[in-house]
Amino acid sequence: MGVRIVSTGSYLPDRVLTNFDLESMVETSDQWITTRTGIKERRISKGETTSDMATEAAVRALGDVSPENLELIVVATATPDSFFPSTACKVQSKIGNRGAVAFDVSAACTGFIYALYVADSIMRSKGVSRALVIGAERLSKIVDWSDRTTCILFGDGAGAVYLETSEDEGILGFDLGADGSYGELLAVPSVGSNEEFPYYIRMKGNEVFKVAVRTMVESALRVLEKVGMKPEDVSLLIPHQANLRIIKAVSERLGINQEKVFVNLDRYGNTSAASIPVALDEALRSGKLKRGDVALLVAFGGGFTWGSCVIKV
Ligand code: UT7
Repeated sequence: MGVRIVSTGSYLPDRVLTNFDLESMVETSDQWITTRTGIKERRISKGETTSDMATEAAVRALGDVSPENLELIVVATATPDSFFPSTACKVQSKIGNRGAVAFDVSAACTGFIYALYVADSIMRSKGVSRALVIGAERLSKIVDWSDRTTCILFGDGAGAVYLETSEDEGILGFDLGADGSYGELLAVPSVGSNEEFPYYIRMKGNEVFKVAVRTMVESALRVLEKVGMKPEDVSLLIPHQANLRIIKAVSERLGINQEKVFVNLDRYGNTSAASIPVALDEALRSGKLKRGDVALLVAFGGGFTWGSCVIKV
C-alpha cells in the first residue's frame, strides 16, 4: 500500500506589497532586495487569518471530494490564529468535517514536510485512507516592519494537499531532522519565554544562509539515496522559497539544471510552511509538473529543522 497526492490547492491574499512599497517603509531598495534575495513582491493578508487562508487552500485542494470523508487534518504553521484551538480544528469546522483527527505541526519553514511525514506515517500504520495536509502562514503579523533585514523577506499564504492511500506508491520517501543548538539564529519568542510582547521574527540571516545550503543539499542526497534515485531522475526540484541564491546554490550542488527548479519567490517571498505546498500546486496547475513525474521537495527552517521528500505525482 502507498500514499499519493490526489489533488492540491493554494490561496494567496490579493494585496501585493512590492519592493518599491518597502522603499518607503525602511531604508532599502528594489535593487538590493532583488539581487540579494530574488524577491520582487509578496502577498499580505488584508484580514484573512491563517485558518481562513488554510481553509480556502483546503477547499481548492478538495474540489469535489466530500470533507465529511476526511479522517485526518494536519496543519503546519508557525502563525496559528490561536494557541488553541489548533488551526487544524478551525479548518475542520470551516470546511464541514466532524470527527477527523486534527492537529497542528510546528517546524517553521520545514513544517509542511514534517506534516506530510506525520500524515503519511499515520495513513500507512493506522489504516487512515483520506487526509488533508496544509501549510499556512500569516507571517506579516510577526514581522517587525521597521527591521529591514527581515521585513523584506516574508509573505502570507497557504497551500494544501489531499492524500489518499493507493495501490501505487506516490510518496516515495523522506529525510527529516533537526538541530536545536542553532535555535537562536532564527527565532520568534512566545508566551513560554521570559520575553515580553511583541514577538517578532529575529534572524541572523548570513549564518542561517550558510547552514541552509549545506543542510538542504545533504538532506536531498540522503532522501534520493533512500529511494534509490539520482539527481538526474528528478523531474522537478521544489525547494523552500527563502532566497534565490540559496535555491541556486542548492540546485547547482545537486547538479540539477535551473529549468528543472521551481521558483515563485519573486512573487510571494518566503511564506514559511506554505512555501512548498503553494509551489507544488502552481507547478501542477502550470504543467511544469505532470502526472508520473518525480518531484524532490526540500526545506530548511527555524529550529533548525530540515526535510526532504520524493514524490511521484
Ligand atoms: O526560511 C528559512 C530560513 N531563512 C533563510 O534561509 C534566509 C537566509 N538568509 C538570507 O536570505 C540572507 O542572509 C539575507 C537576504 C537575509 C541577507 O543577505 P546577505 O547577503 O546575507 O546580507 P547581509 O546580512 O550580510 O547584509 C549585507 C549588508 C549589510 O550592510 P553592511 O554591514 O555590509 O554595511 C546590511 O546592513 O546589507 C545591509 N542590508 C540591507 N541593505 C538594504 C541588510 N538588509 C538590507 C536591506 N536593504 N533590506
